[in-house]
Amino acid sequence: MTSRFRIGETDFLLDGEPHRIISGAMHYFRVHPDLWRDRLRKAKLMGLNAIETYVAWNAHEPVPGQWDASGGLDLGRFLDLVAEEGLHAIVRPGPYICAEWHNGGLPTWLTADTEMTLRSSDPRYLAAVTSFLDRINAIVAPRQIDQGGSVILVQIENEYGAYGSDKAYLAELIRLTRAAGITVPLTQVDQPIAHMLEGGAHEGLHKTGSFGSRIGERLATLREHQPTGPLMCMEFWCGWFDHWGEKHHTTTFADAARDLDELLAAGASVNIYMVHGGTNFGLTNGANDSGRYLPLVTSYDYDSPLTESGDVTEKFRAFREVIAKHAPVPDEPLPEPVDAPVLQVALASVGDPLPLVATDRGVFDTPPTLDELGPDLVLAEYTAALDTEATTVLDADVRDYAWVAVDERPVGILQRTIGDLAMPLPAGAELRLLVEETGRVNYDTKIGEPKGLVGGVRLDGEPITAPWHVRTFDVPALGAAVAQAAAAAPVTGGRAAGPVGLRASFELAAAADLFLDTAGWGKGFAWVNGFFLGRYWRRGPQRTLYVPGPVTRAGTNEVVIVELEALTDATARFVARPHLGHEVE
Ligand code: GLA
Repeated sequence: MTSRFRIGETDFLLDGEPHRIISGAMHYFRVHPDLWRDRLRKAKLMGLNAIETYVAWNAHEPVPGQWDASGGLDLGRFLDLVAEEGLHAIVRPGPYICAEWHNGGLPTWLTADTEMTLRSSDPRYLAAVTSFLDRINAIVAPRQIDQGGSVILVQIENEYGAYGSDKAYLAELIRLTRAAGITVPLTQVDQPIAHMLEGGAHEGLHKTGSFGSRIGERLATLREHQPTGPLMCMEFWCGWFDHWGEKHHTTTFADAARDLDELLAAGASVNIYMVHGGTNFGLTNGANDSGRYLPLVTSYDYDSPLTESGDVTEKFRAFREVIAKHAPVPDEPLPEPVDAPVLQVALASVGDPLPLVATDRGVFDTPPTLDELGPDLVLAEYTAALDTEATTVLDADVRDYAWVAVDERPVGILQRTIGDLAMPLPAGAELRLLVEETGRVNYDTKIGEPKGLVGGVRLDGEPITAPWHVRTFDVPALGAAVAQAAAAAPVTGGRAAGPVGLRASFELAAAADLFLDTAGWGKGFAWVNGFFLGRYWRRGPQRTLYVPGPVTRAGTNEVVIVELEALTDATARFVARPHLGHEVE
């Protein structure tokens, strides 16, 4: 069945009838694909009639031309499931998406080109964007509502008015989108601030706002700039995200419910950001930097109505009650959360796993950045001869975290998040820095900045120009490398200095969601059955990593971790409930 979806003088029009969108954000790339349907069904139970997703370009095309839209990246299947569940879909393909996602969704091979002006009508940028949008629109176009699918709206760019005002760029994105067969209405989103709404504006785009409070005032501002048609809050922020080293954010569900009620009572349409946040699996977390660089934690729970593991919360129940005042809500019982299996198992060590995934990059006069070495690199070792007989001062623009060793002995850490970019260095013959990129900035002007060692390394203020030997490490491949390493030995005293790979087998009666407690570990990466869960860091606030049920199985399972710093408890513990930094009850 096909329908028509249009923007009228006062409302969205579905087959000519006024229609209110009550949507929730859920990013397919943050949820295991075998759980998409479960999450969509629950979202529908809350009373939603639509689901919104961004598209993460860098996940689909990590290397130029190497396109992947399969498995967890199968946007077409996701949109089909949305349709099967009787929901509408809103697609926001960026190409820039922000979203607390690595590099705001832009591939690192794109942003490595320092000559290019991002998010502008620079022809080189547009050439890459054209091929991306063509691929995505080929998936979206046949799934539009007028072709029997679920898609009712497509957004152009994302909060562009907070960044730029290149109208030729917006015009070209619109032209490309229309030329690719997108016929549904196009929208823009901006914070309800005059210059932002106007900066991101273009003929042919319906303005929507992003905000989570002061509803009346924000709607009034939006109305000033969008005098006709429906008002829509495209991002009703009902929770918030966490950075490492900061507190865990929660919002009072009663306040959020009151704000939602105010929005709906005003007749506005809404996209709840997020209805289900999901997870920054693997190395996909973004970072913010408005004066201080702060990487995002692995969980993107967002304090949303549906938790990271898909449980119904008090916020969910409160939102459902509010929505029921304004629209029909399915009259079905809500699923009750269940505790995850609790077990613990001793980890055995395979020693330093980095040589197993190393690539020798050769010798350089000055240390190259990660971006100069290739796309999507996050871990590199830089080694140079040192010829010092007394303590010196080492300083470097480290992006973002470096373990420093002299003559193979660890001597300290340089870290950007707390501005520690200099240290005393004992005398020795060889200097080595193991540098981790801990997340790329996803907002504002630092999107696409270079990573690794930037601008060289200095000793007492003098650049080290001795030959630098550089090796990079394929971090995603570490999970399998540690699992397959020949011998694993018990960890004496339960303590181990990194880099070290550890693994353990454990039994489950049935496949189940798990919460892996990282409390006794330092800083590193974790896998279960080869699925890359993401980063852990003792800095917190996140303490447990979410293991989606579909990656587990009845019988024997395997957990692998790679600890880069220092681990004080070589045990893998699975606990009943998540611990994202909630206050201890
Ligand atoms: C903005 C962006 C989103 C997200 C939120 C904060 O509104 O458009 O992508 O970053 O902020 O979660």
